[in-house]
Amino acid sequence: PTKITSVKALAELPGLASIPTFYISNFASPHDHQIIFSDPDEDAIPVIDFSLLTSNGLDERFEIIQQLRKVCQDWGFFMVINHGVPESLMKAIIDASKGFFELTEDEKQEFEAKHVLDPIRCGTSFNVSADKVLFWRNFLKVFVHPKFHSPSKPPSFSEIALEYSKRVREVARELVKGISEDRTLNLENGFQILVANFYPTCPQPELTIGVPLHTDHGLLTLLMQNEVGGLQVLHEGKWVTVDPIPNSFLVNVGDHIEILSNGKYKSLMHRALVNNKATRISIAVQHGPALDEVVSPASEFVDNESNPPAYRAIKYQDYVELQQSNTLDGKSFLENI
Ligand code: SIN
Ligand code: FE2
Repeated sequence: PTKITSVKALAELPGLASIPTFYISNFASPHDHQIIFSDPDEDAIPVIDFSLLTSNGLDERFEIIQQLRKVCQDWGFFMVINHGVPESLMKAIIDASKGFFELTEDEKQEFEAKHVLDPIRCGTSFNVSADKVLFWRNFLKVFVHPKFHSPSKPPSFSEIALEYSKRVREVARELVKGISEDRTLNLENGFQILVANFYPTCPQPELTIGVPLHTDHGLLTLLMQNEVGGLQVLHEGKWVTVDPIPNSFLVNVGDHIEILSNGKYKSLMHRALVNNKATRISIAVQHGPALDEVVSPASEFVDNESNPPAYRAIKYQDYVELQQSNTLDGKSFLENI
């Protein structure tokens, strides 16, 4: 494809009625993989009440931890309510991200980094140098912890992103503590990335896709979106469409919980569709181990006879670099490990 730096600029072309052929993707069909849409009544996404996790009642805490581990095993995906992150801050980060995408293409060019490990990187699709078809998305990926980075524009972005990532990290830390039985995982020096996604309206949404089927590389991703839906998760061979519930986080298990737990907790396959009615913005905050940590299945999940290690040890930074330098081809990147 010719160099396209922004699908937003393309979508805003007056009278755009059809999409360029290099956006047409066979990942987009709702009937791909012969997957059927699930019945929302039967397959309701599990809800975790975060306030119980931090409550003083030991029984309540014990019970919610059991529930958390069960949903990580059965779903790898859940909604978190009563998490304590202020609604105003959630709105502010959406608005600040919108502000970033609305900068001129020239202004954004400064942040179009060359390398996947550059701490501030915006672009389109997933990885234009490797993608054979392009995806209907603009993104901004910022490394926010252990060292905080931020684009300098728009002016309010940095302060909001700093506060938002700190508050989300506190929620993630409690969840990880619960899942890992307080032992295995520590997010103090963990790597945290804030990803803002911008999906403009698309004249032919059924022919293309925002982000194709993939798993996330880290431990846990906490996602929040504006009022426009588009996220689908693959649960027991069926697509489950996730309704945007205001003020909640959608949390998914990433590849590194799958590796650490030797496959007990599964990294969730998911994708983002686009639509022809409204721009969708999502903010995904990904939490991983420290970049220099070499991760392999933890001993409490391994039994050399009945349950030998199913993944080889790899440095987290190498994993992130490999995964991000590839294209998303509908398979889990864990298959390479
Ligand atoms: C992603 O998983 O990369 C994006 C998810 C979303 O926008 O809902
Ligand atoms: Fe994702």
